[in-house]
Amino acid sequence: MNKRAKGVTVWFTGLSGAGKTTVALEVERQLEEEGYYTQRLDGDIVREKLTKDLGFTKEDRNKNIERNTFVAKILTDNDVITLCSFISPYESARSYAREEISEVGEFVEVFVNTPLEVCEERDVKGLYKQAREGKIENFTGISDPYEEPKNPDVELKTAQESVEESAKIVINHLREKGLLDKE
Ligand code: ADX
Repeated sequence: MNKRAKGVTVWFTGLSGAGKTTVALEVERQLEEEGYYTQRLDGDIVREKLTKDLGFTKEDRNKNIERNTFVAKILTDNDVITLCSFISPYESARSYAREEISEVGEFVEVFVNTPLEVCEERDVKGLYKQAREGKIENFTGISDPYEEPKNPDVELKTAQESVEESAKIVINHLREKGLLDKE
């Protein structure tokens, strides 16, 4: 039988290629193994549907976060463990998400703190190369800002940790906060 957790949104923020999606997938895998309901909301996926009309100006990125916060809030209100992976480079947009979601449940900000050099070295999608060549505008970390979280609930160093370790750190935090208690 599936277990219902207390509603929580785990909000992964960090540069493109930092490992937000990879860690969220592993957190999802481990929690589902324990029988919890989870739902992921991921920038690369929602931008093909829900926020297909948006680009990467500050205004559009904020709209992206607003719409996804709306969805995450509904899920959290229904006691789903909601795993959000968005660059979410602006402090104000992340504060907005925290305020909204805190009305119905918990909000845990996870700073996936991977240095730009490492993300660029990985360049999984080949986007950093294109950004350096000027083929992509407003690219976070290259030609657009990333405001680092000052007080994240959890900080991950994916350059030093394995994916499993990073996921465990997140899950241990949820457990310590009593968010995985309810059956
Ligand atoms: S956010 O800034 O609005 O939170 P989001 O996480 O949804 O961004 O989308 C980021 C993804 O879009 C990146 O991982 C990358 O694949 C792609 N992307 C395309 N153009 C850009 C850009 N200019 N800056 C950052 N990411 C971009």
